[in-house]
Amino acid sequence: MNPFKALLAPRRRELPFPVPAGSTAAEAAGVGVRLGGRPVLDSVDLTVRAGEVLALVGPNGAGKSTLLAALAADLPVDSGEIRVDGRSATRWTAAELALRRAVLPQSAALAFPFPVEDVVRMGRAPWAGTAREDEDDTVVAAAMAATEVTGFATRPFSALSGGERARVALARALAQSAPLLLLDEPTAALDLRHQELVLRICRERAAAGDAVVAVLHDLGLAAAYADRAVVLHGGRVAVDGPPAEVFTGALLGEVYRQPVEVFPHPRTGVPLVVPKRLA
Ligand SMILES: Nc1ncnc2c1ncn2[C@@H]1O[C@H](COP(=O)(O)OP(=O)(O)OP(=O)(O)O)[C@@H](O)[C@H]1O
Ligand SMILES: [Mg+2]
Repeated sequence: MNPFKALLAPRRRELPFPVPAGSTAAEAAGVGVRLGGRPVLDSVDLTVRAGEVLALVGPNGAGKSTLLAALAADLPVDSGEIRVDGRSATRWTAAELALRRAVLPQSAALAFPFPVEDVVRMGRAPWAGTAREDEDDTVVAAAMAATEVTGFATRPFSALSGGERARVALARALAQSAPLLLLDEPTAALDLRHQELVLRICRERAAAGDAVVAVLHDLGLAAAYADRAVVLHGGRVAVDGPPAEVFTGALLGEVYRQPVEVFPHPRTGVPLVVPKRLA
């Protein structure tokens, strides 16, 4: 224990408090975003709740990554407002935001030859100088174990496979211990086992009281693990509700411009979504 820790502790950084399940962790209210002169998000309303896994789905170009970046306060909005932990996103400092939301970007551009463990440890930076700095080693080890990357701890990040890198990037976001997790296609590069693993981690984090938003293209995964699904279509929310209610063949067929069949899993009843194919 560093005896000077109290002296080193930052004075003006507001630490997040745990909130009850069901309370609003982040919110988009009438959000509009224009990029390259085109509207990309239009009047988007979305509430992200503590204790909930929210799947953000929709076709390529629908605006999912843009909405996630707006919720993360990484992208300014042109109209409406983003609120994180009850306060307008623009009114938090970068350090305070880093304690409140962790982001897994769609493509992790990190190509430096840092050892995997150091990459995961970067997630702990926001807690430096706070009482919870003491948890760093435990949290880093737990995040690596959960994502099954402990075996690569000393290897250079740049020497890993695509799926291995994706899991390390997720471990880094998990290690940040923020109560709002914003994950952009966390399963895109992963094999079957690790897709399930990642969604189970999302459920565990939600059970522990965090709010989780995951952009997913696999509608079956979304239906199996998410409490709520928001389908984006052309920058607008097409539907918002429990997957079993909103994933209908008619809606998905129209949004994806691809006929689909939706039927309940024979054992679990969870909706299965498959493209309509010729016999
Ligand atoms: N910097 C930019 N300038 C202009 N247009 C942009 C920019 N970034 C994104 N767009 C456009 O905004 C729309 C939404 O992009 P976004 O990345 O949010 O889609 P997405 O739903 O995440 O798609 P995907 O499933 O392919 O990841 C797309 O039509 C995209 O071409
Ligand atoms: Mg995207």
